[in-house]
Amino acid sequence: MTSLSKDAAFWSKISRKYAESPIKNMDGYLTTLERTKSYLSPEDVALEIGCGTGSTALLLAPHVAHITATDIATGMIEIAQEKRAEKRLENVTFKVAEVLDHSRKDGPYDVVMAHNLLHLLPDLDAALAHIGALTKPGGLFISKTVCAPDKGGMKYALIRYAAIPVMQALGKAPFVQFLSAQALEDKMTHAGFRIVEAVDQSGLLPSRYLVARKET
Ligand SMILES: C[S@@+](CC[C@H](N)C(=O)[O-])C[C@H]1O[C@@H](n2cnc3c(N)ncnc32)[C@H](O)[C@@H]1O
Repeated sequence: MTSLSKDAAFWSKISRKYAESPIKNMDGYLTTLERTKSYLSPEDVALEIGCGTGSTALLLAPHVAHITATDIATGMIEIAQEKRAEKRLENVTFKVAEVLDHSRKDGPYDVVMAHNLLHLLPDLDAALAHIGALTKPGGLFISKTVCAPDKGGMKYALIRYAAIPVMQALGKAPFVQFLSAQALEDKMTHAGFRIVEAVDQSGLLPSRYLVARKET
């Protein structure tokens, strides 16, 4: 089994449980939604990668012309399709796809989004380069990513170097890589983006909300 198919199997297996779990930081989630909506236009064609069970794509759909939302896990996309049918939204397409599966022919997109995904990607540089190619010049890449805190601390060390490796060994956690917020921004800059907004969201592990514009 390749590491990608292992990840797909892991996320598919937990998809129903993930769908039922309450959002851990609701204030942070609502801020992400509101800030993201403020960047969207009714003419925008958007792509969300790693969309999970599709909740965010369905909430953002009324604010764009069309949104394609994709995920590596079949289980996640099945749930997203069920939710879409309930909401009867016509301008959302859900598809099973890995980051690098997206073809530029399907885009390029005005807005690409990836929420709670980038820290799960073993080859982040390749993913960001690909996302850059999928984003129109002047278009936006909007993301939220779990990052390493600036000052590590005991709690972070215990989670990162004890709890997560044990869970990974038991098959109960996927690959993760926590960069500093600065390192993440540097990688985006290297992929041809300019950061236009950055917001830190606290939590057991901090998240960084970033809006980045694709340079022309
Ligand atoms: C932590 S969940 C986040 C889901 C959703 N974006 C959210 O914020 O609730 C990460 C999602 O990324 C998907 N994922 C993991 N690796 C991926 C990859 N290489 N390409 C596409 N999706 C991936 C998983 O299947 C999972 O649904």
